[in-house]
Amino acid sequence: MKPYIIRISSFKGGVGKTTVAVNLAISLQRMGYETLLMDVDTTNPSVGIHLGMSEANIGTKEFISGKATLTQATSVHGATGLHVMVGTLNEPPYFAKPEWIQHGYSTLGKSTAYQFIILDSAPGFTPAQQAGYVDEALIISTPDIPSLTSAVKLEAFYNKHRMNHKMLVNRVDNRRYEVHPKEISEIYEGSIMGFLPEDDIVPKSIAAHIPAIVLDRKALFSKALRYVSDRYAVNSAELDTAKIVKGGWLNRVGRRFRRTR
Ligand SMILES: Nc1ncnc2c1ncn2[C@@H]1O[C@H](COP(=O)(O)OP(=O)(O)OP(=O)(O)O)[C@@H](O)[C@H]1O
Ligand SMILES: [Mg+2]
Repeated sequence: MKPYIIRISSFKGGVGKTTVAVNLAISLQRMGYETLLMDVDTTNPSVGIHLGMSEANIGTKEFISGKATLTQATSVHGATGLHVMVGTLNEPPYFAKPEWIQHGYSTLGKSTAYQFIILDSAPGFTPAQQAGYVDEALIISTPDIPSLTSAVKLEAFYNKHRMNHKMLVNRVDNRRYEVHPKEISEIYEGSIMGFLPEDDIVPKSIAAHIPAIVLDRKALFSKALRYVSDRYAVNSAELDTAKIVKGGWLNRVGRRFRRTR
């Protein structure tokens, strides 16, 4: 069966893409789905750091450039058994040539070894060439205006390239200055997969090189993340956005972006 390929994306950096990618992949794998986590961040790969696999010296670049097969470029994470293709840390930033993208993504798409492939990407636009190979982009945003504004730009880009997208809101802390979930649903037209809390377990887990969901499965972040992976697993219905209060100023920002795309 063809794998379902999810590209974890954001236009703005530092919003939690790698954190989500690592924990979502482990959660899906623990539910019994054959899952590959692949670091496609060609400038600042950090999956290896989050998982304590910094020593791996073969990974994404070798695979997409045809120097290694999918199996050769994939390592197994000792603590969880997750299959991981790292971006090697001693590799200088590189540009993925169009023929590499075509080779790498078409090979992934034909793989029967995995049910889910989670791609952790660099901040910014997805190269349009990849759009045809990725089943869905999961846009990560934090609940603040700069992050959501950039997420709406990414939404417009994905719509233009006819690429499926969803959103996951990270670092929700219920502060009065945060953008309310209802307003987020109002400005983003796609489906929202969930809300992950601000939680100390995340920086603690990164410092320990042990993913949050492994370090403390009962932490709020881990529970919320499992809810998201459950939604992928059962392909459940979209969040109910029917009761959205219209007319917030952030919505007007969203409309302005949509008008200009
Ligand atoms: N839910 C959370 N609670 C607390 N801290 C968080 C949470 N999510 C992410 N962080 C913190 O935010 C920082 C950035 O996270 P991460 O590296 O996952 O972001 P990123 O989007 O992958 O960054 P980049 O764009 O550089 O690749 C980390 O130091 C992490 O501890
Ligand atoms: Mg990252």
